[in-house]
Amino acid sequence: QRLAVVKEHIGEFPDFPKKGIVFKDIFTALTNGHVCTCLKELIVNHVRSKCPDVEVIVGLESRGFLFSFTIAAELGIGCVPVRKKGKLPGECVSVEYVLEYGKDVFEMQKDSIKKGQKVLIIDDLLATGGSMEAAVRLVRKLGGEVQEALVLIELPFLNGRKRLDYRMGLAFVFQDWKI
Ligand code: PRP
Ligand code: MG
Repeated sequence: QRLAVVKEHIGEFPDFPKKGIVFKDIFTALTNGHVCTCLKELIVNHVRSKCPDVEVIVGLESRGFLFSFTIAAELGIGCVPVRKKGKLPGECVSVEYVLEYGKDVFEMQKDSIKKGQKVLIIDDLLATGGSMEAAVRLVRKLGGEVQEALVLIELPFLNGRKRLDYRMGLAFVFQDWKI
């Protein structure tokens, strides 16, 4: 039921940010307090049962940050950001990626993950999978072990999942859960 509650509150905006794209807006759902609680419980229960040994939560700018902090706070572990180029201080590693609409560079701070740490990456939405793929590459560059790449919403017709399954060797544990 929690799933249904969250699902029916996700906003849909046709022709944003470009004609032909239906923008799925998780923020619409978060304006409702009951939905916030449902979503938090869904995510945290999922992580506790599927990735109980996870050591770091990586959140993708910008909407991924909401959920990386939520999980980290509930589990009592740390969260670290993947940000767009030039936003993070200190020494960084970077990876270029292609978006559903445009091109960008993602960065992580060099010492934000220790070698061998078990990592869960989270974002609000999987479209082409370009952002998630870049994040996986970054975490691996730093020596982290990606246990799961987690998204709340998936646009299946863009085949982002295939890209991560076959190219990055990642299984989506979230398969049965996805909004
Ligand atoms: C959106 C969305 C995902 C990404 C998915 O973010 O929040 O992060 O696109 O697209 P992909 O699977 O094709 O890579 P966006 O880049 O618009 O930035 P934002 O989260 O900072 O708004
Ligand atoms: Mg995003």
